Amino acid sequence: MQIFGSDEETMGYASKYISKLADIVDINMGCPAPKVVKNGDGSKLLLDIKKAENIIKAVIKNTDKPVTLKIRKGWDLNNIVAVEFAQMAENAGISAITIHGRTRSEMYSGTVDLDIIKKVKASVKIPVIR
Ligand SMILES: Cc1cc2nc3c(=O)[nH]c(=O)nc-3n(C[C@H](O)[C@H](O)[C@H](O)COP(=O)(O)O)c2cc1C
Repeated sequence: MQIFGSDEETMGYASKYISKLADIVDINMGCPAPKVVKNGDGSKLLLDIKKAENIIKAVIKNTDKPVTLKIRKGWDLNNIVAVEFAQMAENAGISAITIHGRTRSEMYSGTVDLDIIKKVKASVKIPVIR
């Protein structure tokens, strides 16, 4: 099951709650929807790695299931953070990463950057899913 949010405590609660049903807890830090990013959720967290790390740790602390993470290439072309995020996530205890090879600014248009996915794959030991 996938959850998203930027409030550490709520995310910890959600993690514990869905773990009664879910085999894996997946955190969505890739959603570009305006109604999501305007609350600081989804891909907006790509601009605040410390906050993202705290959320990840709260989610992991509140479950005995594997926790995985969905990210994008970055917020925009001036903020390409996928490699940095993947390394932070691996160190925080994330079990696998899915990467959408576009920035938030690109939404769903244009081609996917396969090179960034390759770079992420080379930078961590955990599984990387495209
Ligand atoms: C309408 C729509 C809804 C999506 N909803 C989710 C979602 O809830 N969670 C998620 O992780 N990805 C979601 N995605 C992203 C896709 O899973 C995928 O990462 C993205 O479309 C890039 O795929 P590509 O690399 O094959 O182009 C959504 C995509 C679209 C177009």
